[in-house]
Amino acid sequence: MNIKDLRPRTGDGRKVYIETYGCQMNVGDSEIVLSILQDEGYVYTARIDEADIILVNTCSVRDNAEQRIWGRLQEFKQYKKRKPGLLIGVLGCMAERLREQLLEKERSVDIVAGPDAYRDLPNLVRTATSGGHGVNVQLSREETYAEISPVRLDQNGVSAFIAIMRGCNNMCAYCVVPYTRGRERSRDPKTILHEARELFEAGYREVTLLGQNVNSYAWECEDGSRVDFPTLLRLVAEIDPRLRVRFATSHPKDLSDKLLEVMAAMPNLCRSIHLPAQSGSTRMLALMNRKYTREWYLDRIAAIRRYLPDCAITTDLIAGFCTETEEDHQATLSLMREVGYDFAYMFKYSVRPDTKAARTMEDDVPDEVKTARLTQIINLQNELSLESNRRDVGKRFEVLIEGVSKRSEQQLFGRTSQNKVVVFDRGDHTPGEYVTVEVTDCSSATLMGHLVEK
Ligand code: 5AD
Ligand code: SF4
Repeated sequence: MNIKDLRPRTGDGRKVYIETYGCQMNVGDSEIVLSILQDEGYVYTARIDEADIILVNTCSVRDNAEQRIWGRLQEFKQYKKRKPGLLIGVLGCMAERLREQLLEKERSVDIVAGPDAYRDLPNLVRTATSGGHGVNVQLSREETYAEISPVRLDQNGVSAFIAIMRGCNNMCAYCVVPYTRGRERSRDPKTILHEARELFEAGYREVTLLGQNVNSYAWECEDGSRVDFPTLLRLVAEIDPRLRVRFATSHPKDLSDKLLEVMAAMPNLCRSIHLPAQSGSTRMLALMNRKYTREWYLDRIAAIRRYLPDCAITTDLIAGFCTETEEDHQATLSLMREVGYDFAYMFKYSVRPDTKAARTMEDDVPDEVKTARLTQIINLQNELSLESNRRDVGKRFEVLIEGVSKRSEQQLFGRTSQNKVVVFDRGDHTPGEYVTVEVTDCSSATLMGHLVEK
């Protein structure tokens, strides 16, 4: 398998341009969409002004994500004016959630396709080409796009995403994903392993297994045996010790000791776990329907530290969920200190229509309070990230090189197993190689170091 075989086809033909917002799952979906359209004879373009079809793969997780897309749809109109016959398609979570509004409010939109409707895109494009609206937002209980080979859109040819499951059954009170992405379903492990092997043979050295809640991955084989997430992870890691394997996201309620045992046994399973806490207050966790307490969460952190002492731990946090008091907020800050997160994604609570919180709770924390709490959370995380990076100064790490540093042609950057970015002088190395780097300095976002002989 040559890397060229996985890359988008360009050149003559009707050209598709695709813009992706939101999570890594969407990045993976855009790669599937391109694969489906390429099979219909379309070619890819990275230049919007050349496109015959503009697709935007959207996110509904917070209101500001949706506002950005509405703004973007306005901007797309100029291309349509310049090129009659140009088609505009909205894909993903916002397509699922807002199909009517999209067609009514935004007359330039020709195609609306939800996350489970991408196989239908060739038909939808045909309908739109003959002047109609191509719309399909049917959710599915089975669709995993299992056997479709994604067209790889990553920049580096070193790291790629593999979706192992779709949808979510957790029903966190604030979250729109179960409504936009439907019920949880796992993908046949054979197709996952095939995809990972293909990537490795093409020169890729890192895969990230993706799902809304990877720890509930489950597949029943024809012989009745079951493949759970730890088993799948081991099978992927066994492809080759030079293939690094990451995964996201883990729900704390399902993070098992079995998973940690498998990780501890295989050094190419990366020492980094993303474990969204959302809040440090047990009262808020219950309201959020997270199905664990602060104590349970801390017990899982202790288990990670026991099995994997050098593992980085990262999280997601929400400030200002319904009824959150100063005391609840302080509990989040104290959880952050207690865990000492290496990194966090931090958000202000944003009401999402149709969710349990929107239906049954009042969004009663004033916006100024949400902002002030979020600022405190961000400031604390910056301190914690800096402390975490300072602890790495003087240590040596195996680094997988991803590319040339943005700041200087003479420097490369890569990642440690803990998923931290390291910048160092290039020597005669190239992306895709493993090198040993000694960390000499850091900021809160990056490690700096120099190459050492192994
Ligand atoms: N408001 C703010 N943040 C949210 N998230 C999900 N839904 C909301 C919401 N309504 C955050 C959670 C989740 C991450 C992907 O986005 O922290 O883990
Ligand atoms: Fe956005 Fe969540 Fe949908 Fe991903 S799954 S696109 S983050 S709403």
